[in-house]
Amino acid sequence: MDILFNRRSIRKYTDQPVEKEKIEMILRAGMAAPSAHNKQPWEFIVIDDKKMLADISEMLKYGKMIAKAPLCFLMCIDKNIQDKDAYAVQDGSVAAQNMLLAMYELGLGGVWVNIEDNPSYRDQIRKIHNLPENIYPICYLPCGYRDERRRPTDRYIEEKIHHNKF
Ligand SMILES: Cc1cc2nc3c(=O)[nH]c(=O)nc-3n(C[C@H](O)[C@H](O)[C@H](O)COP(=O)(O)O)c2cc1C
Repeated sequence: MDILFNRRSIRKYTDQPVEKEKIEMILRAGMAAPSAHNKQPWEFIVIDDKKMLADISEMLKYGKMIAKAPLCFLMCIDKNIQDKDAYAVQDGSVAAQNMLLAMYELGLGGVWVNIEDNPSYRDQIRKIHNLPENIYPICYLPCGYRDERRRPTDRYIEEKIHHNKF
């Protein structure tokens, strides 16, 4: 409950590198996610190349924080394993949320960066990371030690809950 209610998106990071063990734990959290028919169709690109981080940041309108992150994950789905678009997005999304929660638990911060704002993003991402045709990118997850403090917010609204019928 602590992780669920206190996690916030973190967009400012210190220069401290993220330890290998923590990177592995975040990836394990992603792979622990539920997936449709338990196909586990995910693939993860771990990005720590400074020039590449700068290039991604330059491309993405809402991903400028990536240039200053020590680390960034690109969450992908293998369409040869999960060919249904809707399932692919859902499988990738639950894995990505697991990773964000793991970051919080490990004393790190991260944020979901979408790649939907411009139809050209996917082609550019394919080139940057050398993705084969069957690998479908879902989102970037920059990650690092937090350089900002964000308070939890209570978003519970009773009126949003409906019983049996809307
Ligand atoms: C599907 C999705 C796309 C998002 N895209 C971006 C993004 O491109 N850039 C960004 O800075 N934050 C992005 N966010 C983070 C949201 O802005 C953030 O989750 C929201 O403002 C709530 O704040 P919190 O995560 O701190 O609770 C995205 C979140 C989701 C779930």
